[in-house]
Amino acid sequence: MLIGKPPAIPSSEITPKATYLNRRNFLAGAAIAGAAAVTGVAFHDLADLVAPALTAHANAKIDGLQKSGFSTTEKETPYKDVTNYNNFYEFSTDKYEPAGLAKNFKTRPWTVTIDGLVKKKQVLDVDAIIKMAAPEERIYRHRCVEGWSIVVPWVGFSLSELIKRADPLPKAKFVEFTTLYDPKQMPGQRTSVLKWPYVEGLRMDEAMHPLALLCFGLYGEVLPNQDGAPLRIVLPWKYGFKSAKSIVRIRFTGDQPMNTWQQSAPGEYGFYSNVNPNVDHPRWSQAKERRLGEFLKRPTLMFNGYDQVASLYSGMDLKKNF
Ligand code: MTE
Repeated sequence: MLIGKPPAIPSSEITPKATYLNRRNFLAGAAIAGAAAVTGVAFHDLADLVAPALTAHANAKIDGLQKSGFSTTEKETPYKDVTNYNNFYEFSTDKYEPAGLAKNFKTRPWTVTIDGLVKKKQVLDVDAIIKMAAPEERIYRHRCVEGWSIVVPWVGFSLSELIKRADPLPKAKFVEFTTLYDPKQMPGQRTSVLKWPYVEGLRMDEAMHPLALLCFGLYGEVLPNQDGAPLRIVLPWKYGFKSAKSIVRIRFTGDQPMNTWQQSAPGEYGFYSNVNPNVDHPRWSQAKERRLGEFLKRPTLMFNGYDQVASLYSGMDLKKNF
C-alpha cells in the first residue's frame, strides 16, 4: 500500500541494520541494475519483480484438501514470491521485511471473538474454526491496489460457513474484521503509520458470497506468518487490502464499519474497493497490472475477472462507491 505521506519510521530503522544492508545488496545486484540501464524501466519496478529466495516451504501440510470449482487455471506465482513480498504493515512497510520480522510471531494459542449483532456471541479457538468445514484449495487471482498481482493456491473454506454458525440477527448488515493488536510482537504497531489495530469490513451479502474465503493455508500448507497466520480473509474481487490478516475479532454491525485505509486516506481508498480498471487511484491508473515475476503488464479486469459478484453491485455507481 502506498500513502501520500512517508511512513513515520523508515524501514531502515525498524530492521536490524545487517539484515537491511544484505537485502539492499541483493537487490542492487548487477542483473537488476544492468536491466534497468538497458530498458530504462525504473529500478524500483524491476526490483519488485524479483523476490530473494529466502523462505523454503517450512510449514505443516494440510491434509484432505478438496479442489474448488472457483480455481483459476492460470500459472501460480512462485511460493518464494508469495511469502517474501508481503504487505503487512503491523510488521513493516517494506514488503521484503514481514517474512523475517514475523518469524517468531506466536499464532497459538489464538482465539477469535464473534460478537455484535449475532445470536451466538462466542470466543472460538482458531483450531475449532479451522475444523468447521472441509478445507478447499482455491487458486485465486489477487490484485493489490498498488498495481501488482499474484495467483495463489489458498487453503480455507467459504466465510459463510462461519457466519451461518454465528447466526446473525436480521439487523446485522455488515461484518467487521479486526487484526491482533500486540505491539510487542508487531513492530509496525509501535509506529503511527496506520491507526491500530487494522480493521476491515464487508457488507453482509459480500461476506456471504461463496467466493469470500476464510483462509488458513497456502500451497497445501499452514499459512506462513507473513501471509496472515493463523486466520485471514481472502476476497479475490477486491483490492488486496480488504483481505485482513491475523484476525482476532469478527463483529456484526448495523452500520458500515470504518476500515483502516479509508480512515487513513479517504480520497484514495474507499469501503468497497472492488478491482475496477475504470476507476483510477487519484495518483495512478488502475487499467493495468503486473503479475509478480512477469515483465510486461496485463489489462486489469473488472472485479478482477470474478464476474459472479457483479449482481451484488447492480444499480450502484461504482465510481462513487470506489
Ligand atoms: N492485513 C493486515 N492486518 N495488515 C496489512 O498491512 N495488508 C493488506 C492485506 N491485509 C495488510 C493486511 C494488503 S495491502 C495486501 S495487498 C494483502 O494483505 C497482502 O497479502 P499477502 O502479503 O499475503 O500477499
